[in-house]
Amino acid sequence: MATTGASRDAFGTRAGFILAAAGSAVGLGNMWRFSYQASEGGGAAFVLLYIGMTIILGIPLMLAEFGIGRRGQSAPVGALRRVVGPHSALVGWLGAVGSLLILSYYSVIAGWTVRYALEALFVGFPGDTGAHFGAVSAGGSAAAFHVGFMVATLLIVMAGIKGGIERVSLVLMPALFFIVAGLAVWAVTLDGAGEGYSVYLKPDVGDLMNPSVWRAAAAQAFFSLSLGMGAMMTFASYLDRQANLPQSATIVAYTDFGVAFVAGLVVFPVIFSFGLQGAVGASTVGALFIALPSAFDAMGAIGRVVGTAFFVALVVGALTSAISMLEVVTASFIDEFKVPRRTAATAAAILATLLGLLPALDTDVLGLMDKIAGEFLLVLGALLLAILGGWLVRKQMLEELAAGASPWWAAQVPRILAVLRFVVPPIVAAVLFFSARETVTTVVDFFRG
Ligand code: PHE
Repeated sequence: MATTGASRDAFGTRAGFILAAAGSAVGLGNMWRFSYQASEGGGAAFVLLYIGMTIILGIPLMLAEFGIGRRGQSAPVGALRRVVGPHSALVGWLGAVGSLLILSYYSVIAGWTVRYALEALFVGFPGDTGAHFGAVSAGGSAAAFHVGFMVATLLIVMAGIKGGIERVSLVLMPALFFIVAGLAVWAVTLDGAGEGYSVYLKPDVGDLMNPSVWRAAAAQAFFSLSLGMGAMMTFASYLDRQANLPQSATIVAYTDFGVAFVAGLVVFPVIFSFGLQGAVGASTVGALFIALPSAFDAMGAIGRVVGTAFFVALVVGALTSAISMLEVVTASFIDEFKVPRRTAATAAAILATLLGLLPALDTDVLGLMDKIAGEFLLVLGALLLAILGGWLVRKQMLEELAAGASPWWAAQVPRILAVLRFVVPPIVAAVLFFSARETVTTVVDFFRG
């Protein structure tokens, strides 16, 4: 199916590609990071800005990645070199490094969710969830589950695009949608859910004006849509020219927002119904790993069923995202060093596993890595991609993005590209400025202890 390189892997179906891209997007970011950021950013104000950023920044940037990836028929390093020019290969390497860094701590958090899911299923939730989280999140257990999760990710990536990533996404993604929707329906029945909904859905004008909420919403949109480090570019490189790229980008972006939004409809009512607001703001992981489990524990048998479903959904989301990060690095190794997929994937997984031991042993390191790689590098990557795709290779993009699109979607391409040229760069540049400041402060605080 690929147009170059007889042996290059490819997606078998359109749905397979869309679900794999949605699988990359929907992940811990939708539940762990989104609910935390939303509670920090005043709930509804954050949610509103976040949907705006998804549409205005997310869709054009995703389209730029899709266009460069499909045209380049190569991992980001090679795709950028071919489509834009030799120097931009550096942006591809930046993406590969970013992917590796994010994967390393992402797998640690994913490991915690695996342990929570198994415990929910076999022994139930503990009474003291704060102390329990302390035990789960640092040291030997965290390292062991991190390694286990990485091995599962590696096995899927080794099986290739069609036989591994596509196959797994076609089954797991519908299952995840089903679980999250079911949980939201259940949350309606909770006493006191109303207060949770109102914090989540009623924006505070003061928060809407706060630049730090803007920065957080934009950065969260990039993280959640897997943009800025070449994951979407890598997946699109396995497509042929029949795929409708603008339509696919739109579907993936709305799906990702939809899952985050619906997950909020679960998290907020549960937290308010059990009066757990305090446990949420306390740490990046408070909502998911401390407040929610303590609510599930208080609910008895039902809590165990619901809690198991919740953590299984998290594991599924984490897995389909982690495979996309490992794929970026794997594909870069395959295309640049001409090594077999198995070798490339194994090398990438070993690197990510070793790097991940640091955040596994110290959650402060995890927060630091999330700031640097999960926020700053993504925003930087997004800015560079907007400039490359929107300005340097605009003609090729106009042509590439219309190829395979239906007439209506093809007609949207120039509009979306105009947004990519004129609207995206100034906003992302402003976000980058605030994000750089935040990141420096975080790094300085970290080293001062
Ligand atoms: N989008 C994923 C999530 O929301 C995380 C991710 C970031 C995946 C960057 C790939 C690249 O969990």
